[in-house]
Amino acid sequence: MKVCVIGGAGYIGSHTVYELIDDHHEVVVIDNLSTGQRDAVHPKAKFHFGDITNFEQLDEIFKEETALKPFDAVMHFAAKIVVPESVEKPLDYYHNNVEGVRVMLAVMANHGVKNIIFSSTAAVYGQPENGVCKEDDETKPINPYGETKLASEKMIQWVSDAYDMNYCIFRYFNVAGAHESLEIGLNRDVLTHIIPITVQTALKIRDEMSIFGNDYDTADGTCVRDYIHVSDLAQAHVLGMKYIVNENKSGIFNLGSSKGFSVLEVVNEVSKYKPVNYKVGPRRAGDPAMLIASSNKAKEVLGFETERSLEKIIESDIKYREK
Ligand code: UFG
Repeated sequence: MKVCVIGGAGYIGSHTVYELIDDHHEVVVIDNLSTGQRDAVHPKAKFHFGDITNFEQLDEIFKEETALKPFDAVMHFAAKIVVPESVEKPLDYYHNNVEGVRVMLAVMANHGVKNIIFSSTAAVYGQPENGVCKEDDETKPINPYGETKLASEKMIQWVSDAYDMNYCIFRYFNVAGAHESLEIGLNRDVLTHIIPITVQTALKIRDEMSIFGNDYDTADGTCVRDYIHVSDLAQAHVLGMKYIVNENKSGIFNLGSSKGFSVLEVVNEVSKYKPVNYKVGPRRAGDPAMLIASSNKAKEVLGFETERSLEKIIESDIKYREK
């Protein structure tokens, strides 16, 4: 298939491009390189510089590409994703994440592209009562990031009805790790996620780290999350694309492992490799105690199963950062 990957120079986008190329698809990446990197784009993918909020720019690229061969599907990764930043700058998040999706859908409609694979988040669930999230559970985001993703999910569903499109919406849990080639991984100036921060501390790239709160209602008092390797997640996108294109269907799927690990367990796992200098600090605003995916739907409908354990996720992040 010919696939347009918007945000294909970023962390998850670039890994998905690697999986698409491995599966012999033709890939066109569009990215504004605001957080992504040009050299993260697989050499076999074609690259266009473009901003998802710029209709004229995006429309021009689609015109040029469609004249060569129409796109079978579009994958969307071009979002802002840092929860505390979304609280400080909600307008930026609505502009990039919601207006960006509107422009993308308008351009898709303009060029008759019928299939959209969209990156959403567990943040749409808010603070689920027992910590386990099913796709048809109530959605009650507690921050602008989750709200913008939920608004986009709804827009995609309405537009799909109106323009006869198929959608595959993926709600990601905690994504981490690096590609086995070590060519790509999570590489940003400012890192906020627990696994890379813990690994950086073990590697002495940072002096110490904080565990944000140990008084939650969990077994060891620290927050529990469901970790998924970025390459497992990327492979799910290939399955999701084939499902909506070949079967002419749509769906919303959680992507996680259905297993929860506490922050302390993550720190202990990294400490097996090298000691981690940590202290326990106050809670971070907006953190739910526990978020675990029910991933039965992705398994039953898409045949998706995670292959890589937390140990493997951490090992790949260590190897990537050492390199
Ligand atoms: N944490 C620490 N110390 C750190 C960094 C994080 O203790 O230095 C803790 C957090 O407080 C939290 C857990 O580690 O309890 C995981 O935090 P991350 O920042 O790694 O990830 P989040 O669970 O906050 O966020 C992830 C995605 C978001 C998504 C969210 C859904 O990165 O995009 O899951 O809940 F919205």
